[in-house]
Amino acid sequence: MALIALDLTVNGKQTQVQVEEDKNLLYLIREVLGLKGAKEGCGEGDCGACTVILDGKAVNSCLVLAVQAQGKELVTIEGLGRPDNPHPLQRAFVEEGAIQCGYCTPGMILSAKALLDYNPSPTGSEIRTAMSGNLCRCTGYQKIIRAVQKASNSMAEGKEVL
Ligand code: FES
Ligand code: FES
Repeated sequence: MALIALDLTVNGKQTQVQVEEDKNLLYLIREVLGLKGAKEGCGEGDCGACTVILDGKAVNSCLVLAVQAQGKELVTIEGLGRPDNPHPLQRAFVEEGAIQCGYCTPGMILSAKALLDYNPSPTGSEIRTAMSGNLCRCTGYQKIIRAVQKASNSMAEGKEVL
């Protein structure tokens, strides 16, 4: 399969890559860029484990062709926070116990980030709707909803800066 050259922004950094034209965005992220936060679960758009943000929207990277990222801005979980200064969502997920095995967590946090970027003060119902494409087998979801609300509140109070 022919290699295609792509220019895109990855976590704020202008990046050039080459990828086979039939590969999906998840392959580009994990195998070409070496960013292992996005996970493959179902591979069919059902679980949300592969969620990343592309031009401001949360997308299932298993359903997007890598070549569709040409010229776009990609944010993966590696682009949020640092170990010594986590993103408010990352901190809230830890504080609320919204992480157990962690397999769903990068996708959950990126879906939540896309929501809060668009709607900084969502209701519980709006959070549930925005996160409905992200499945979690461990936490029962309530802690995840609370974590998103907590991050939203702390950012609104100006305690946290993105
Ligand atoms: S791996 Fe992409 S939605 Fe499940
Ligand atoms: S924490 Fe295990 S799948 Fe969500």
